[in-house]
Amino acid sequence: MSFDLSVIPHKNIILAVTGGIAAYKSAILVRRLKDFGFDVRVVMTHGAQAFITPLTFQALSGNPVHTELLNPEAEAGMGHIELARWADLVLVAPASCDTIAKFANGLADDLLSTLYLATKAPVWVAPAMNQQMWAAKATQRNLQTLVEDGVHVIMPDAGEQACGDVGLGRMPEPEDLAKQVAAYFHKAQRAIAEKFGLLAGKRVTITAGPTREAIDPVRYISNHSTGKMGFSLAAACYAAGAKVTLVAGPVSLDTPNGVDRINVKSAMQMLDVSMNQLKEGCDIFIATAAVADYRVAEVAEHKIKKSGDELAVSLVKNPDIVATIAHQQQRPFMVGFAAETQNVEEYAAGKLVAKKLDMIACNDVSRPDIGFASDENAMTVFFAQSYHMEKRELEKASKQEISQQLVEAIHDALLQKS
Ligand SMILES: Cc1cc2nc3c(=O)[nH]c(=O)nc-3n(C[C@H](O)[C@H](O)[C@H](O)COP(=O)(O)O)c2cc1C
Repeated sequence: MSFDLSVIPHKNIILAVTGGIAAYKSAILVRRLKDFGFDVRVVMTHGAQAFITPLTFQALSGNPVHTELLNPEAEAGMGHIELARWADLVLVAPASCDTIAKFANGLADDLLSTLYLATKAPVWVAPAMNQQMWAAKATQRNLQTLVEDGVHVIMPDAGEQACGDVGLGRMPEPEDLAKQVAAYFHKAQRAIAEKFGLLAGKRVTITAGPTREAIDPVRYISNHSTGKMGFSLAAACYAAGAKVTLVAGPVSLDTPNGVDRINVKSAMQMLDVSMNQLKEGCDIFIATAAVADYRVAEVAEHKIKKSGDELAVSLVKNPDIVATIAHQQQRPFMVGFAAETQNVEEYAAGKLVAKKLDMIACNDVSRPDIGFASDENAMTVFFAQSYHMEKRELEKASKQEISQQLVEAIHDALLQKS
């Protein structure tokens, strides 16, 4: 299973800035944390405000900056308890000697020290100070207390300091700190995924195969879809811990182990069953079916007899199943497929927007090696604009392998939604 560090769960980070010369680096740190998709709120001590202004952090984080504890206005908005609850992680960078001492002794005389006591979130401190202050017995004693209290202490870098000294005490570069935070959430996510599966507990509905649009009791209009992709995806989703329902058009494939299957024939039936699935609860809707765009306007009650040289059959448009579901108020995460024979990527990107999908996987069915009946496939996946990633190439591989990669893509996109 591969994990891409740019894909991390949506998390709330409190960046607490204290009164140290490294406070200027925290401005860049906000940017780097936001690059990973974190929502960042900045808390500043009074000391920090002597080095850098709240306005800078407000502009960079896109959120109000929190500075006061005993402020009725602030408490009416997001006060210290709400902030403490909001945070998935509190990162104090730079952490001054003073703040470290407060934490170690349980003082609660300003917003940050009170927040520290009030939060259940992991607290990380990045001490930054003059090398002598770092080495001071009191500082080391306080840091030891913090470690014993479960705080993660990020070791400072060694090197030349603002005061001219050389030694330990420099705040690590913002890029490194942001990466460490991202890696932490990654690891936690990975542990969950490895234990329970990438789609653990998710309810997935997959449409697959062609639809059959009756002309009369013995004839129909259909297409070459075999349903292989949808069935293979159903197996992959089930293996990833999901509860899977396959809404299958007429295909001759065995139902994958553990998957519920509802057989349908026409596009209208497929829509009905899909809407019903939505009512029963669906977190992810994957539309692989090659649904007929048109159906016969009036299906003949009896077999149409051979008569003249020409026969006109009038067609009416079928509803667009995936777009109908994507436009519901309580919509699941929507995955579409685009099988095209020309300008594949352009059409797919257009469909993504027009049908309000979260993700679309497109393939070029004109290629004989990866077409409808083939056992192999290659795809490009596009994500809606609200996601942190734009597109992902899935190299030519068996449909099973492609399905696994699609499950990973869905999982990665969902992480950013929660
Ligand atoms: C110019 C200057 C630079 C300072 N740099 C640091 C520093 O890098 N690290 C530190 O722990 N304290 C530093 N201090 C001392 C803190 O600002 C001081 O202890 C303050 O009370 C910290 O308050 P706070 O922890 O509430 O932000 C510095 C003070 C001055 C005047």
